[in-house]
Amino acid sequence: MKIAVYSTRRYDKTMLTEANAGAGHELRFMEDRLTSTSAVLAKDCEAVCVFVNDNVDAEVLGILAMQGTRLIATRSTGYNHIDAQAAQDMGIAVVRVTDYSPHSVAEFAVGLLLAVNRKIARASNRTRDGNFDLEGLMGFDLHGKTVGVIGTGKIGLIFARIMAGFGCSLVGYDMFPSPAFEALGGRYVSIDELLRCSDVVSLHCPLTPETHHIVDAASLARIKRGCILVNTSRGGLVDTECAIAALKTGQLGGLAIDVYEQEASLFFQDLSSTIITDDVIQRLVAFPNVIVTGHQAFFTVEAIGQIMRTTIESITDFALGRTLRNRIPAP
Ligand code: NAI
Repeated sequence: MKIAVYSTRRYDKTMLTEANAGAGHELRFMEDRLTSTSAVLAKDCEAVCVFVNDNVDAEVLGILAMQGTRLIATRSTGYNHIDAQAAQDMGIAVVRVTDYSPHSVAEFAVGLLLAVNRKIARASNRTRDGNFDLEGLMGFDLHGKTVGVIGTGKIGLIFARIMAGFGCSLVGYDMFPSPAFEALGGRYVSIDELLRCSDVVSLHCPLTPETHHIVDAASLARIKRGCILVNTSRGGLVDTECAIAALKTGQLGGLAIDVYEQEASLFFQDLSSTIITDDVIQRLVAFPNVIVTGHQAFFTVEAIGQIMRTTIESITDFALGRTLRNRIPAP
């Protein structure tokens, strides 16, 4: 099949080409994000392969459908960037990658938590500058603290297991309680109780209309004062302006994010020589108790290898008329 691959970086090209070696699909790599303007580049491609910041809305799907696209394959677990209803209405199948190293994201969330709590990035910047002073670098023991996990699916569960290893108490919030979480000693509570009692809150639920701004002014007012919030899931879960207000008052003790609601125009590119006009992200990175990374939690050899192999397998299954195991559920 001819596949248009959007938002391609060097590692995508190398690893997708490797995964495709035995399958023999024709890959058309493009650095551009998929938008209504760049959709024309996928002309005659039956499959279009996208990533998290590609815009796969009804307008774009309409253009792709007219040009002969019948399959969208996203190199991600989350699919909030795809209008699944519009795709279904236009007869375009959508596949994602459900099973790739959830450890990659869970381990990174723990790394972010440690970095913000123990000020590791600040300390490293200081020592590079010959400053070995400890003033301002004090954190707190995670041992004995309460960690709230919102979304105890694959990633949330592994995050919880690691935090149990630190000696933390676990509380969880999910519509589908997991016996494995309870086996770790985790206790399911209401979201209000979770916010009220947690020293650390980590978000691991998908972005849906129900979870959009699950962390907003009202929930930030209810969190335990000084709580650290970790978000490796999707930027839209957090109302960033409200998080900034809570950081200013000290209600929020720290913020560690790998995702950002307005990340589409920023992430996955080098903007270090340009003037960044997004004042919210500029404000965020200026806080000493905030750490921001550019959506890299999934970025391990194991995860990327699996993402590329699964993507090619799904496309081959589609080409051969087989059942699509990773098809996204009907809306
Ligand atoms: P999963 O489907 O295994 O788990 C998600 C959990 O969230 C499920 O248990 C589900 O019941 C729960 N959930 C759904 N709606 C909820 C709600 N309204 N309130 C509370 N819980 C709710 O998914 P997985 O693999 O653990 O991934 C979680 C999320 O992590 C993805 O949706 C994606 O947004 C994000 N992610 C981020 C990556 C990164 O590089 N930063 C990479 C991969 C995933």
